[in-house]
Amino acid sequence: MSVSESDHFSLPDEVSRYYEEGLEAQRLSGALGELELLRTMEIVSRYLPDPPATILDVGGGPGVHACWLARDGYEIHLIDPVPLHLDQARQASEGQPEYPITSIRLGDACKLNQPDASVDAVLMFGPLYHLTSRDDRILALREAHRVLRKSGSLFAVGISRFASALDGLVRGLLSDPEFIRIVQRDLTDGQHRNPTKKLSYFTTAFFHHPEELAAEVVESGFHLEITLPLEGPAALLQDLDERWDDQDQRNTILNTLRWLEDEPSILGITGHLMAVARK
Ligand SMILES: C[S@@+](CC[C@H](N)C(=O)[O-])C[C@H]1O[C@@H](n2cnc3c(N)ncnc32)[C@H](O)[C@@H]1O
Repeated sequence: MSVSESDHFSLPDEVSRYYEEGLEAQRLSGALGELELLRTMEIVSRYLPDPPATILDVGGGPGVHACWLARDGYEIHLIDPVPLHLDQARQASEGQPEYPITSIRLGDACKLNQPDASVDAVLMFGPLYHLTSRDDRILALREAHRVLRKSGSLFAVGISRFASALDGLVRGLLSDPEFIRIVQRDLTDGQHRNPTKKLSYFTTAFFHHPEELAAEVVESGFHLEITLPLEGPAALLQDLDERWDDQDQRNTILNTLRWLEDEPSILGITGHLMAVARK
């Protein structure tokens, strides 16, 4: 466990070890990472109130989202259970001294150290896929509900049930019998486990069926606005890197995702999905 044993804490040791490898700070770079970042920025900006407003970034990791939101004029508070991520977030914040992240603290999505009705928006980009029990995910979502002001916004991201199968196809991983076993379990019950030492096969997680994420958000007391794909089918492009470097082609990719995103069946073809909801 990463914090004192007396605290309720829901990050399994293998997940801590995975993130302590330090890969997360670079995840949103490269074509696929930038695609996820730009789509997240676009969707969140669409639904956020204008600044000034207060945002709690739960599981904010190395602070990539907190930094652009701070630059956009928001008061942003980041919590994460991984000390390395907190250090990286502090460094990132120091790199933009005119727009610092307001606070960066150790914390757990299931037990937020935050007063009731004190923030205008909650980002939850990570905790819901590492909380493998439904009860814990509902607990985390209810905590988000508790700390939000009336009509405040929730942005909650899940990894799709089909992500590893699609990723396996694109990256040619389905020739590895160990990866096939991982994918088969993902498709059966969404419980992603990686018994290998390969970091690229990720770590302990839960992969949501698109309808499951929406149902959990509603059960936690929210009014669901919409569930949207982040990368969508663009992640399947074998030549994404080359296309992404060309501004016209990049615009075509982003426009195509805008045309498709309202269609619920497209949620079956995306790595990440985002539920947008209101208290
Ligand atoms: C894939 S990273 C995403 C980081 C960042 N939010 C982003 O979107 O780039 C998942 C993050 O969730 C955090 N996390 C996992 N379980 C958590 C929990 N129970 N409470 C808070 N954060 C958690 C991890 O420490 C990690 O920083």
